[in-house]
Amino acid sequence: MGRSYRIAPSILSANFARLGDEVAAVVAAGADMIHFDVMDNHYVPNLTIGPLVCEAIRPLTQAVIDVHLMVEPVDRIVPDFAKAGANIISFHPEASAHVDRTIGLIRDSGCKAGLVFNPATPLNWLDHVLDKLDLVLIMSVNPGFGGQSFIPGALPKLADVRRRIDAMHAETGRAVLLQVDGGVKVDNIAAIARAGADTFVAGSAIFGSKDYAATIASMRAALKSAG
Ligand code: DX5
Ligand code: ZN
Repeated sequence: MGRSYRIAPSILSANFARLGDEVAAVVAAGADMIHFDVMDNHYVPNLTIGPLVCEAIRPLTQAVIDVHLMVEPVDRIVPDFAKAGANIISFHPEASAHVDRTIGLIRDSGCKAGLVFNPATPLNWLDHVLDKLDLVLIMSVNPGFGGQSFIPGALPKLADVRRRIDAMHAETGRAVLLQVDGGVKVDNIAAIARAGADTFVAGSAIFGSKDYAATIASMRAALKSAG
């Protein structure tokens, strides 16, 4: 109740020929964060954008740039994204040989750190590192492509992470964002919020719509109904 929600449009579904205008438009439409999907054709079977593009969009917005690394290895590229103006850097534990070290590297480079869980990745990594994270990202699709359908198994997983985050917050006062990514739409966002998410990545739902502001407003209205 009274939870504050964040909408993070994924520019994966933006028109890359007009990327600067797309970023400006989605920020003007009410985005809280820009979700920046980095794919390497190795950890995931697709290839997208890197630090040069992050650097190019950085001057266009005050919004948080939320970098989702789907790359292996992870560590080599972290300082480049920090220099390019990323605010949050998230990575997949399977892609790093030393998860705790990578989290430290991200935080030492001045960014907030997130850990990402694929649909089949167990949550027990959190037993050891939740106290060092700023964000937990639950994937509700297998990573690599926009426009896939939401996997319902993400809902109990979100509820499990919500319990862990709330327990830690009660004990230590530390706040951790709980993000969801994949297949988030106007018609399922309330149920996803009720499962415990507070930060919503949406690519095709926003960039595939005619009116970004209307879509984001509909998402916020649905979130309000979720409590
Ligand atoms: C998938 C990416 C997502 C993707 C979401 O690997 O991490 O951020 O852009 O796209 P939609 O919202 O279309 O499922
Ligand atoms: Zn993503």
